[in-house]
Order: sequence, then structure tokens, then C-alpha cells
Amino acid sequence: MTMTMTTRRFTGHRVLLTGAGRGIGEATARRFAAEGAAVLVTDREPERAERVAAAITEDGGTAEAYGCDVTDDAAVRAAVAHAAETFGGLDTLVNNAYSCHPDPSAFEDLDSAAWYQDIDVTLHGAARCVRAALPHLAAAGGSASIVTVGSVNAERHFGDHAYSAAKAALASLTRTLAVSCAPRGVRVNLVEPGTIRTPAWSGREDALSRVAAHYPLGRVGEPTDIAAAITFLASPDAAWITGITLPVDGGLLISNLGMNEAMRPGAAAE
Ligand SMILES: NC(=O)c1ccc[n+]([C@@H]2O[C@H](COP(=O)([O-])OP(=O)(O)OC[C@H]3O[C@@H](n4cnc5c(N)ncnc54)[C@H](O)[C@@H]3O)[C@@H](O)[C@H]2O)c1
Repeated sequence: MTMTMTTRRFTGHRVLLTGAGRGIGEATARRFAAEGAAVLVTDREPERAERVAAAITEDGGTAEAYGCDVTDDAAVRAAVAHAAETFGGLDTLVNNAYSCHPDPSAFEDLDSAAWYQDIDVTLHGAARCVRAALPHLAAAGGSASIVTVGSVNAERHFGDHAYSAAKAALASLTRTLAVSCAPRGVRVNLVEPGTIRTPAWSGREDALSRVAAHYPLGRVGEPTDIAAAITFLASPDAAWITGITLPVDGGLLISNLGMNEAMRPGAAAE
């Protein structure tokens, strides 16, 4: 006899995700919904959020779409209020929206508008969402959490100065919030993805193929790899986990494959 076990960890759970109109945010919204959560799919591009919410609904899940740019305080407050009213409260906030401008060849040529935008969306955007969501999360009765999407860029040099600085700041914010929010029954954690095959990489599939060789597990990540980690951290299985930074990176941060290759006897001669 074959037994199929469907895990539904989020029945009755209410989730708001930012930047969830595609990529990692979309995969995470779909995973929460597939496991029983009601999800508010928010994105700066409302039609992207609509598409994802419609797909979830078509699959039998509970989802609504909401246009929300995380740089806009009023929009963030409105989105959080909408989730709380529609679903009767909020259990999980997923901070996923980001901005990343490519570096110029010299740091002094970095355009200051680009610098501020990367920091504003990536760092301040998460802080805005946390401020708006906290009263609702604290009212959820001890099962609430915040999961923020960071990046391996916070830990090592991969370029993108402003984006990387903002992602590193998110790790600190995660720790300080974890302690200050613990007495209110809200856990706060961070996931740091390595390279993930999302629409952010469209047109650069050749680069994705090349970087795969730098991953000990032999491939780049898929959005579902990150959705699995985010939903774990939001689930009751992580009830005693707060303030952590969890790399989900196929072994990238603990490896040094380039140097290993350079040290291999005969490598230079080939
Ligand atoms: N894809 C990767 O290789 C990778 C690697 C490390 C970390 N990450 C992180 O994962 C997260 C998601 O990345 P992705 O690759 O899925 O991105 P993506 O570009 O595919 O999707 C991001 C979504 O965010 C929305 N967005 C952009 N600015 C916004 C704003 N101001 N307010 C609200 N929404 C906004 C976009 O409209 C888009 O739908 C980000 O935090 C990113 O830093 C991604």
C-alpha cells in the first residue's frame, strides 16, 4: 500500500509577502497556500501580484493580491491593514522585496540615487513592513514570525555594494528584532539565498550555467529551495528558532572551489 502524506502546516495561518509577484516570493506564496495558509500576495507591480493570487486560487488555495511598493509608508500600512481585515489577523510577514543596481566600474562613480534606492527598498522597506505588521503579529498569540530574505552577498564579496550593505544590515536587524520581539511572541529570522534561477536572471542564463560550477552541490538554486526554508522558519517546527541567519546556498559560503582547483597538481599546465 502506498501512503501519500500531505503536510499542511499552515491551516488557519495568515501570511503577507512583499515582492511576491514572481520569483522567490511567488514560490513562497504558493508553498504557504498549498499548505493551507491564506496569503496576501503584494508587489510593486499589481498585475504580477494578481497573476500569482489568481493561480493560487485556481489551485484551490486562499490568496488575494495587493499593489504595494515597500518604499511607500502609507501603501505598506494599507497592505498590512488589508491582510489583517481580510484574513482576521496576521501570523507571518515575509520581507522579500529588494532593489539592486549593477555596480559602476569605480565606486566613486556610483550614482547616489541608485545607492539610496537599493538601501531604501532592501533595508528600509523591510523595516517599514515590520513596523506596520508588528502589532498584528504580536496579537497572534505566540505563533507569529517574520522571515526576511537576505543574500549571500551579506557574507562575502559578490559585488553590488549598496545591495550587499543593505543585506548585511538585515542580518543585524534580524538579531536585534528577534530579541526585542521575543517577549511579544514574535520570532524573527533571515534566509540568505545563493544564486537562484528567477526572472531576475532572465537574459543571463549563460551566467547561471557558469556559476553552477562554483556550487559544491553542483547546481544553482530554484525558488522552491528558498520557499522550503522560509516556510520551515515560519512553521511550528521552528518554534524555538529566532534571530538566525540561514544560508540556503548549496554549500557556496563554506566552500572554496576556485582555490582548490588552483592548488590541484597540474592545474596550471592544462
Ligand atoms: N535570484 C537570486 O539569485 C537571489 C540571490 C540572493 C538573494 N535573492 C533575494 O531573493 C529575493 C527575491 O529575489 P528574486 O530573484 O525572486 O527577485 P525578482 O526580481 O524575480 O522578483 C522581485 C519582485 O519584487 C518586486 N519589487 C521590486 N521592488 C519592489 C518594491 N519597491 N516594493 C515591492 N515590490 C518590489 C518586483 O516587482 C518583483 O516582482 C530578494 O530579496 C533578493 O535579494 C535573490
